Amino acid sequence: MILAIESSCDDSSVAIMKASDFSLVYYEKISQEKEHAKYGGVVPELAARLHTAALPAVILRAKEHFKALKAIAVTNEPGLSVSLLPGIVAAKALAAALNLPLISVNHLVGHIYSLFLSEQIKLPLGVLLVSGGHTMILDISETGVISVLGATSDDSFGESFDKSAKMLGLGYPGGPQIQNLALKGDDRAYDFSLPLKGTKRLEYSFSGLKNQVRLACLELENSRIPSDKSRIPSENSRIPSENSRIPSQQKANIAASFERVACLHIIDRLKLAFSSQKWAHFGVVGGASANLRLRGMLENLCASYDCELLFAPLEYCSDNAAMIARAAVAKYHNKDFCENLEMHPRSSLENLKII
Ligand code: KG4
Ligand code: ZN
Repeated sequence: MILAIESSCDDSSVAIMKASDFSLVYYEKISQEKEHAKYGGVVPELAARLHTAALPAVILRAKEHFKALKAIAVTNEPGLSVSLLPGIVAAKALAAALNLPLISVNHLVGHIYSLFLSEQIKLPLGVLLVSGGHTMILDISETGVISVLGATSDDSFGESFDKSAKMLGLGYPGGPQIQNLALKGDDRAYDFSLPLKGTKRLEYSFSGLKNQVRLACLELENSRIPSDKSRIPSENSRIPSENSRIPSQQKANIAASFERVACLHIIDRLKLAFSSQKWAHFGVVGGASANLRLRGMLENLCASYDCELLFAPLEYCSDNAAMIARAAVAKYHNKDFCENLEMHPRSSLENLKII
C-alpha cells in the first residue's frame, strides 16, 4: 500500500491505495473552503496554518494501515509554496519514522490520473485540464509523454468563474455558485463576445470575458444609483460584497450568459485541437470539470469525433489525495523513488511522462 498526501492549495487530503488493484483503503479530505470564503479567495497564510493543524490528525487516523505501507507519496509541484510545505514536511517525517522511500507527484499529473482511479490508463489520450490554477489542452502519447498543445494566456477557466462570482457578490468558490444561479437566468440576455473568435491560435483567454461581466455589473449599478460608484464590486476586493444593488434576475442573466460563453470558448478552441489530432479517448480533469454545461457540450463534441469521453468521478474532480495515490502507484511499479524530494511551486507539465 502507498500513503499519499495532497496539500497544494486549500484541501488537506490523505489516501492509502493498494498497489496491486488500485483500491482505496483509506481516504479523507478536509476542505478549507469555508474559512477562505470569508475573504472571497484562498489566503495563503491561512491555508498553511490550516494544513499544519489538519494533516497530522488525518495521517494518524490511518495509523492501523502503517504496517502495510511500502512508500509515502506527496504532491511537491506545482502549487502554493506555503501549502505544499506542510504536506512535504509531514511526508518526509513519516517516511523517516517508518523507514520507507518517498515518491514525488506532480499535482497536474495527479489530476490526469483521476481518470484512472480504478483502472489501467488508456493511451494515446487527449486531455482538457480545467482547474482554478490551470486551463490546458494536453496530448499524451502512446508512451505516456505529455505535450501541452495550448494553455491560457491570462486567467484560468475556474478563476474566471471565481472572479465573476465575486463581482456578482456570490460566494467562493465561484464555479458552483455561478452554475446554480445560471439555471435561473437567460443565457442570451447578454451578448458577451467569444474570446479569440476567428483566430487559429490554440490558446485560451478569459480576462476579456471577465471584463465584459465587470462592465455589465457596472452598468446595472450605475443605472440604479448614478451618483454612488463607491460600492461597485471589484474582482480584487478582499471582502466579497453582497452586491444587492443588482436585481437578482439580472444577476442570474449575467451568470448564465457568462457561463455559456466561457464554455463555448473551451469548445471552440478544442475543435481546433480535434481537427489536427486523432484521439480515440479524451479525458476532462480538474475541479472545473464538474461544470454540467461544459460536460454537456463536451459530450456533443466527442460524439461528433467518435471519441470516448472520460471523466473522473465527481468526488475526485477537485483536489484530493486519491488521484495523487494513483499516480504514485504507477511510479512505485516503476521503482521511481525520490531521494532528495524538493518543492517546485511553479513547475509545468512539459516533457513529463505519466507512466
Ligand atoms: O482542481 P481544483 O479543485 O483546484 C485547483 O487545482 O485549482 O479546482 C477549483 C476550481 C475553482 O476555480 C472552482 O470555482 C472551479 O474549480 N469549479 C467550477 C465548478 N466547480 C468547481 N467551475 C465551474 N463550474 C463548476 N461547477
Ligand atoms: Zn488541482
